[in-house]
Amino acid sequence: ALVSMRQLLDHAAEFSYGLPAFNVNNLEQMRAIMEAADKCDAPVIVQASAGARKYAGAPFLRHMILAAIEEFPHIPVVMHQDHGTSPDVCQRSIQLGFSSVMMDGSLKSDGKTPADYAYNADVTRTVVNFAHACGVSVEGEIGCLGSLETGMAGEEDGVGAEGVLDHSQLLTDPEEAAQFVKDTGVDALAIAIGTSHGAYKFTKKPTGDVLRIDRIKEIHARIPNTHLVMHGSSSVPQEWLKIINEFGGEMPETYGVPVEEIVEGIKYGVRKVNIDTDLRLASTGAVRRFLAEHPKEFDPRKFLIASTNAMRDICIARYEAFGACGQA
Ligand code: G3H
Ligand code: 13P
Ligand code: NA
Ligand code: ZN
Repeated sequence: ALVSMRQLLDHAAEFSYGLPAFNVNNLEQMRAIMEAADKCDAPVIVQASAGARKYAGAPFLRHMILAAIEEFPHIPVVMHQDHGTSPDVCQRSIQLGFSSVMMDGSLKSDGKTPADYAYNADVTRTVVNFAHACGVSVEGEIGCLGSLETGMAGEEDGVGAEGVLDHSQLLTDPEEAAQFVKDTGVDALAIAIGTSHGAYKFTKKPTGDVLRIDRIKEIHARIPNTHLVMHGSSSVPQEWLKIINEFGGEMPETYGVPVEEIVEGIKYGVRKVNIDTDLRLASTGAVRRFLAEHPKEFDPRKFLIASTNAMRDICIARYEAFGACGQA
């Protein structure tokens, strides 16, 4: 059944677990997530970015999620819009049938430039007003995602910067977070603690100075009833990097957010954990390996099944680690 984010996160808080929120762009990802959730008896949050809508087309994306709900009617599913850049974008998603939207007002509508508090609070409050009128949940964000190692907002290839942010923008201030929740009425709050989007988060296994789990504890102590969201939470599995590079890939050394650090965050109010990159890495590794090992094969279903299975296993591992199994 289609449910709102608020319903699932309230349940997660009551029973002290976290939910992975997986990005979805295509059929294989959707199947991987649902098969994992079915096996684990876990509730599902699937989220679509602007890039996903562009790739699949909004109607395909919408019907793919509705098809998942039809095939797995016993599993609660949140259909969430990831990183909305304006109230207009969020309104269109609600019209399309999304049960939850993220208004990311930490950045201006270009999705790149850091915005000031007044702008963020204003656009987020606007979205909360119209979303709540139709039973749709809202995620807001306070603080900008980015690396405390480099000040960069997140990179596609591990080389170029997308923008350099100063230290204070990269860490959510607990007082400002409390004010923001009060001013906007959001259902869930994304915070910045040193993670960034993509595969290139940390140049070595992160230590407490660049991955600030301590900051989650401070924010949670200040606003214990607010559901916290961790973005940029892929763990960048070293075994998949190895497989990618063994079968023709050329990815430089890089590290993600260790699963045990996320689990620590879940003890302190983190209820939604955004994961996209890990499924991309597993999919790419599985396809590279399959094609290298089966050079005569040309039926795409064969390598796409390898991709689906690899992504499904990542989903299962996250449902298990975050305590979401048996909660559907
Ligand atoms: O927010 C970042 C997610 O990983 C979505 O990425 O914009 O390439 O679809 P995307
Ligand atoms: P990753 O790139 O770490 O998977 O983060 C995804 C995300 O935060 C989507 O909003
Ligand atoms: Na989101
Ligand atoms: Zn994100």
